[in-house]
Parts: sequence; structure tokens; C-alpha cells
Amino acid sequence: MFNIILFGPPGSGKGTQSEKLIEKYGLVHLSTGNLLRSEIDAQTPLGLEAKSLMDKGQLVPDEVVIGMISSALDANANAKGFLFDGFPRTEAQSEALDSLLKLKKSEIGVVLALEVGEEELVKRLLNRGLTSGRSDDTNESVIRARIVEYKRKTTVVADYYARFNKVKTIKGEGSVEEIFSALCSEINKRLS
Ligand code: AP5
Ligand code: MG
Repeated sequence: MFNIILFGPPGSGKGTQSEKLIEKYGLVHLSTGNLLRSEIDAQTPLGLEAKSLMDKGQLVPDEVVIGMISSALDANANAKGFLFDGFPRTEAQSEALDSLLKLKKSEIGVVLALEVGEEELVKRLLNRGLTSGRSDDTNESVIRARIVEYKRKTTVVADYYARFNKVKTIKGEGSVEEIFSALCSEINKRLS
């Protein structure tokens, strides 16, 4: 099993690149943002609780997302590997993920960290907000709150995996194809 974390701030291109990577490498895509939005669409109690936090640009509680990831890992027992997108987002989530993978005699192969300047992030998300229907994209103050939350709580995830020498930084500005090819070249190095 080869597992990848695609890491980076809101709007850095995690979702865009994930779609291409899962197709090329046959991985199962696990995006906690997508899983939470499905819960919101289905109007489950979990979705309703998450929505109020997501609309403010704040993280939902660790135990909620860890529970979702744990179920998703069990539901895909025969996966060739997983691509984690938007998870883990705190040190507690990172530790929980490592324990869950260990139970499956597996681990994270690499953390690919997309780097994009803050003004470019805001521009991309405001632009996406024109059509995405995502309530957290529609106004600049929520977009900026998501970036603040990322800096305060999520950058530590890269520090956590750097301790195990697993982080590779990738420039996340340029064309989607250029960035995809840089990501693939890092993955291929580790697969061969
Ligand atoms: P989540 O859904 O994970 O959103 P996010 O991290 O804020 O990031 P985005 O999905 O907005 O951006 P992305 O990096 O995927 O970029 P994309 O490819 O879409 O989380 C949403 C919320 O859910 C959180 O705020 C939190 O409340 C909650 N949540 C989720 N996971 C959680 C967790 N683990 N713990 C706690 N809470 C959690 O691209 C963005 C735009 O840019 C698109 O329009 C795209 O077309 C464009 N674009 C992409 N690449 C390029 C390029 N190279 N050049 C120009 N434009 C580009
Ligand atoms: Mg995304």
C-alpha cells in the first residue's frame, strides 16, 4: 500500500491535483472536506454541526474527522493506497492517522506540500465562489479566516511529518499540468 498526503492551504489545488493523481495511480481519494459536504447535503446531525463551523472558516473537531477517516479506511480494505486531501489538519489528526494506518500494517509514504502565495489563494477561491456553491468561498473574510486557521493549526502537520523526513515541498503556482508533473515525479521516485 502506498499512501500520500496532499498538503497545502485552502485553494492551493489539493482537490484539482487529487482527481488527476487518483486516476493515474489507482488510489482511493479521501477528502474530509468532501465527506463533510456530503453529510451537509444529507442533512445528518454531523453535517448540521459541521456546517456552522465550516461557514465561519473554522476546523471541525478532531474526533469528528478522525471518525470519518477511520470508517473510510475500513470501507476500503482492499485499496492499493490512499490519497489524503485536507486531512490531517492538526497534530492530533496526524497521530491518529499514523495509528490507524499502523493497525493496517501501513504508513504514510510521502507528504506533498503545495506552496501558493496568499493573495493567489484568495483570488482563486473568490473566483471559484462565483460558481462552486460553496458557502465558505463566497466572501473574502471567510476565505481569510480559513487561511488564518490553516496557519494557526495546520502548518504543524508539515512539522510533524518533517520529523520523519517525509515532506516534499512543491511549487503550487503555474499550470495544473506543470504542477501535476512535479507531483508525479516525486511519487515515482518513491515507488521505484
Ligand atoms: P476543504 O474542503 O478541505 O477545503 P480547503 O482546504 O479550504 O481547500 P479547498 O478545497 O478550498 O482548496 P483546494 O486546495 O482543494 O484547491 P482546489 O483544487 O479546489 O475544507 C473545507 C472545510 O471543511 C474546512 O474549512 C473545515 O471547516 C472543514 N474540514 C475539512 N477537513 C477538515 C479536517 N481534517 N479537520 C477539521 N476540519 C476540516 O483549487 C481551488 C481553486 O483554484 C479552484 O477553482 C481551481 O480550479 C483553481 N486552481 C487549482 N489549481 C490551479 C492552478 N494551478 N492555477 C490556477 N488556478 C488553480
Ligand atoms: Mg479541496
